[in-house]
Amino acid sequence: MCEVTEKQIKELRHKIEELSYQYYTLDAPTVSDYEYDMLYRQLEQAEKAHPEWITPDSPTQRVGSKLAGGFAKYTHDQPMLSLGDVFSDDEVREFDARVRAELRSTPIQYVVELKIDGLAVNLIYEKGRFVRGVTRGDGRVGEDITHNVRTIRTIPLRIPTTAAHVEIRGEVYMPIGSFQILNEQRLADGMEPFANPRNAAAGSLRQQDPQITAERKLAFFAYAVGGMDGLVISSQAELLQQLQTWHFQVNPEYRVFFTIEDVIDYIHTWDEKRDSLGYATDGMVIKVNAFSQQRQLGNTVKIPRWAIAYKFPPEQVKTQVADISISVGRTGVLTPTADLKPVSLAGTIVKRATLHNEDYIAEKDIRIGDTVIIQKAGEIIPEVVRAITSVRTGSEQVYRMPTQCPSCGKMVVRVTGEAAIRCVNPACPAMIAEQVIHFTSRQAMNIDGVGDALVRQLLEHQLIRDAADLYTLQKEQLLSLEGYGEKAADNVLGAIEKSKVVGLGRVLFALGIRFVGAKTGQVLAEHMGSLAGLRKATEEELMVIPDIGPRTAKSVVSFFHDEENQRLVDKLVRAGVQMTVPEKMVINHTFVGELVVVTGKLASFSRKAAEQAVVLRGGSCSSTVTKKTTLLVCGSDPGSKYDKAKKMGVPIIREEEFQARLQDE
Ligand code: IVH
Repeated sequence: MCEVTEKQIKELRHKIEELSYQYYTLDAPTVSDYEYDMLYRQLEQAEKAHPEWITPDSPTQRVGSKLAGGFAKYTHDQPMLSLGDVFSDDEVREFDARVRAELRSTPIQYVVELKIDGLAVNLIYEKGRFVRGVTRGDGRVGEDITHNVRTIRTIPLRIPTTAAHVEIRGEVYMPIGSFQILNEQRLADGMEPFANPRNAAAGSLRQQDPQITAERKLAFFAYAVGGMDGLVISSQAELLQQLQTWHFQVNPEYRVFFTIEDVIDYIHTWDEKRDSLGYATDGMVIKVNAFSQQRQLGNTVKIPRWAIAYKFPPEQVKTQVADISISVGRTGVLTPTADLKPVSLAGTIVKRATLHNEDYIAEKDIRIGDTVIIQKAGEIIPEVVRAITSVRTGSEQVYRMPTQCPSCGKMVVRVTGEAAIRCVNPACPAMIAEQVIHFTSRQAMNIDGVGDALVRQLLEHQLIRDAADLYTLQKEQLLSLEGYGEKAADNVLGAIEKSKVVGLGRVLFALGIRFVGAKTGQVLAEHMGSLAGLRKATEEELMVIPDIGPRTAKSVVSFFHDEENQRLVDKLVRAGVQMTVPEKMVINHTFVGELVVVTGKLASFSRKAAEQAVVLRGGSCSSTVTKKTTLLVCGSDPGSKYDKAKKMGVPIIREEEFQARLQDE
């Protein structure tokens, strides 16, 4: 195309939109990928020649630039309600009885939809153009995630209506297939896998960089409207039709029923079928169909009185324990795992399930060879719920925890009062591998590209003996490993070098000191200022720090007393790992010397944001009210922290007062 007109660009855009709707939403492409790519490229070139004709709803504008700063808050025009939960058929009947009692004798229809296990979002269209995407948040105030929502291909950027303001609500979710690929990728990169598709979707929507969200393969099912200027729709079923006409994806499994028994039957047809859907559902939603009846029934502050969610019990399945194996964690804990005859559960093939510890196995009397019930209650690692003892044949074997570490062969110990059995050999190879993997992980030293696999390779080839050895790795050594070329080796070395400046807080977490998580590492670093100070600190000195209790204090002191640990820390220092705290950014000194606890729901902040605001003004925050607390910031619905602060005479301020103090110079 040498010279284009604005009209031609517009037509091209419409054509691409249509093709992409067929491809992504209908899953029924009508042209080859190649043809589509060519048209897309034509549009890109035309827009490059005429940037003045680019519109925000152009298909080329889905992935924008990185967001600077955090997410802006957005107050929903109409609150995004949650749903009341029920767990049994009888509770569904009770709901029906209440609805019928209130609507008297008028006939009622129910719409039953799948409850998609994702994240509710609100899409705002002005004069048919997508202008904003907002998370549900607390239902009243959400976060503006427009830049990420735009990347979701099944969300139309334009809808054929001239209404000034339309809000479309629905669920952003990650299909199970995409979720599994993403997790495999993360594991290979040495990152923590997401626990379930819902968390993965949430994490993907909260990215600063829309490029990352775009790669995550999210999708969207529409099921409700918020504001709808001038729309004449009279029922939920009609609304779902309208949404489809507007090219939204609507879950195809919704049905309309006249009696509650039919509703219940339909719900049960999904008890087992839901595994095969390709996306996660955690229940069904039952809605009164007619909007007039919905209005008559009304809403409470949080939930509608015209709809309920029937929650499925956690998915369980029967299989057999082929064997029990032991893995050694970074603190030396021996965790027993059941090796299972593979079964499909909640959309994934399960081969292993955790047995937690020795007591768990004994208490549930789980034996090798047993037929067992396993379940996944939202988490990625399934657990063995119980053994079906009635089908035992007598050949099952009672499992005894090993007395020696399966990795190093040294005797293991069980500390009185603890459920865990530990290997206490500091030179245990399994333990060291887990320690180094933890050291490089994202929340610790964040060494990109040094994941599970590379760490094991390095240890196996004796190129490293501990985490500190990473810093003296030579390029030739990396090149000697299978699969490592120039570029990969440079990337790894670059990432290792970069990690030297992450600061003392992360180093403390990376060292794997017991009871020192990422947050505690930061707190310790900020209060002690330097490694030298920390090494000399006594338990009493540490316990003065907010959030540091006797258990943590003791563990830190004993860590730095241990000669082996001292050697490791010295080695890190010699390698150039910085053991200082990066200058803290402070806006002003309003909260210097204050130890603040934030509790209850705040209207204009998340708890985290409120705490950050305090820290930026020189204060510290903690999550529990103690003698050391100097101020409680209290939102709505506070719990026991409020009572405790009141009893202890801690000064309490409300959100307005807190806001006012933040404004103080
Ligand atoms: S309707 C006023 N329909 O469930 C009614 N919600 O526990 C608002 N959800 O926050 C919700 N699938 O995130 C509705 N088909 C569906 C749903 C659905 C999933 C989620 C939604 C909501 C939560 C309520």
